Amino acid sequence: MGKIVYIGEYDTTLDKFESQFEVPNGVTYNSYIILDDKIAIMDTIDKRKGEEWLANIKEALGGRKPDYLVVSHMEPDHSANIETLVKKYPDIKLVANAKTVPMLKNFTNLDIDSITEIVAEGSTLDLGEHKLTFIMAPLVHWPEVMVEYESTTKTLFSADGFGRFGDFNEDSPWDDEARRYYFNIVGKYGLQTMNLLKKAATLDIQRICPLHGPILTKNLSKYIDLYAKWASYEPEEPEKVLIACASIHGNTYKAAEYLAKKLGDRAVLIDITRTEYSYALSEAFRNGTTVFFCSTYNLDMFSPMADFIERLQNKTWRNRKAAVVDNGSWAPMAGKKIIEKLATFKDITLVNDLITIPSTAKADTLAKLDELTTKL
Ligand SMILES: Cc1cc2nc3c(=O)[nH]c(=O)nc-3n(C[C@H](O)[C@H](O)[C@H](O)COP(=O)(O)O)c2cc1C
Ligand SMILES: [Fe+2]
Ligand SMILES: [Fe+2]
Repeated sequence: MGKIVYIGEYDTTLDKFESQFEVPNGVTYNSYIILDDKIAIMDTIDKRKGEEWLANIKEALGGRKPDYLVVSHMEPDHSANIETLVKKYPDIKLVANAKTVPMLKNFTNLDIDSITEIVAEGSTLDLGEHKLTFIMAPLVHWPEVMVEYESTTKTLFSADGFGRFGDFNEDSPWDDEARRYYFNIVGKYGLQTMNLLKKAATLDIQRICPLHGPILTKNLSKYIDLYAKWASYEPEEPEKVLIACASIHGNTYKAAEYLAKKLGDRAVLIDITRTEYSYALSEAFRNGTTVFFCSTYNLDMFSPMADFIERLQNKTWRNRKAAVVDNGSWAPMAGKKIIEKLATFKDITLVNDLITIPSTAKADTLAKLDELTTKL
């Protein structure tokens, strides 16, 4: 009886994933080995854990040799050890699709054509008891991505899809860190993610093995439903309101706190000058409405807000309600700039006129914020 063995690693010392996302609970780089008549390794892992991964392989092999390395995704957190692996096991064949080949050539110094078996949509690889079917998943996260379905164990190897920051434990909380992962990493490609979900819906899936975070074995429809919502840009919490605030000296933040208090548990207040932007981006996609609070800075938005909005645009944030509150002591401009920028987004509806705080929020401004709550 063949078996599938986990050979990934948990990285708890990485400062920033992709040089941009905090991972307070670390991140796992998952890799699997299928031990059967033929042996297939499912992706490599990040270079930070290459040696440990090679040791995991050696132990799992028990003296045997691997026949195949399946390359689902060329981003270096999964491909960094391809060259090392081939040098260690020179008879191994790479299994990749046509879009992967030029990347393999650019990322490595290997003679790729002589060691690669090309697969396409619907190709199969027979390992004995285990049989892999290849499903192309372009742009779920990069253009060459593919996933694999193993029909005997009904396992979907889902590449970056269904990935989560944090540990490998299926029972630790999933939603928040999977959402932050999805929207910040894959979020621009909702349509492509929907396409993959449609193909997956035709399969009997009992287990999902992603390239980050836990293997999912229980209540899979919960995860698939969340992904369908995320990929379609539907808010998960239509009634909730993200208040994203960029304040220089705190007066704008005080007004943001006032609004948050008024909204009670419907509000999620994030100081985007202090909290890494990926959290606010994730909340902006999660909730039905975002209120942008921003100080004016040299006739423009205070830079953390400009950065945040730029990142929302990159991820095609859409189909949401918004409101804008700015602040200025002589020529307030932040709100105008935010509204101009949001006008270039798809399906963002402003629910209120711009509210401008003249340095500090006094009774008249508070009254406007009270009125705003009735529209949120
Ligand atoms: C470096 C700097 C540049 C500023 N530029 C402008 C400006 O161009 N127009 C304006 O009305 N206020 C400007 N301000 C004033 C702030 O926008 C205003 O005092 C602030 O919004 C008050 O809210 P806060 O305490 O939340 O920062 C600037 C403040 C600083 C520190
Ligand atoms: Fe990736
Ligand atoms: Fe990844």
